[in-house]
Amino acid sequence: MSNPVNLAILASGNGTNAQQIAEYFMDRDDVVVRTIIYNKRDAYVATRAKNLGIESHYFNRHDFMESDAVLDFLRERKIDYVILAGFLLLVPNNLLQAFPNRIVNIHPALLPKYGGKGMYGHHVHEAVVANHERETGITIHVVDHRYDCGTTLFQARCEVVPTDTPDDVAAKIHLLEKEYFPRVIDAFIFNKPMPAL
Ligand code: GAR
Repeated sequence: MSNPVNLAILASGNGTNAQQIAEYFMDRDDVVVRTIIYNKRDAYVATRAKNLGIESHYFNRHDFMESDAVLDFLRERKIDYVILAGFLLLVPNNLLQAFPNRIVNIHPALLPKYGGKGMYGHHVHEAVVANHERETGITIHVVDHRYDCGTTLFQARCEVVPTDTPDDVAAKIHLLEKEYFPRVIDAFIFNKPMPAL
């Protein structure tokens, strides 16, 4: 068996996506989640990593934006792909250059709608409800130097009904994320067809 593909997951908060990705690849010998990196000290994703038996590490904004600390950490672990799973900082240039076309993000809306700075997590679902959208969804895309703008790999949609609250929309989005994000990562890494809708 050749060397496995090494993943690093970057997250800022709860970490449900990080956990789902880790569990999806747990029984595989061709893909390994080597590390989970987070940038908020109290992020619950650190507890999830511990429960999963995966190394996790906190880096602050300065480490990300004004040093090579994160890059060196990823290189030491021979990381092949970086997965953003609810990671809310703009990805710095040193990581973009070190991982060209190898950084993948999930966004909880149908980009280009509801993307850009400040549009994350619950803010997105609140805007979707406020604008009386009839549908929303997820976008999984390659990361470039802008927020939420890189090449789209996959989108999936769900209905929004007039009685939906932002929490209801969030629940629908989390179901889509669970169903598709790990499989899209798998397909992207191995150049396989994207999951059928
Ligand atoms: C997810 O819904 C993800 O799509 C979103 O943050 C949530 C993180 O949840 N990402 C963004 O808004 C990125 N702009 P999690 O920490 O439970 O996985």
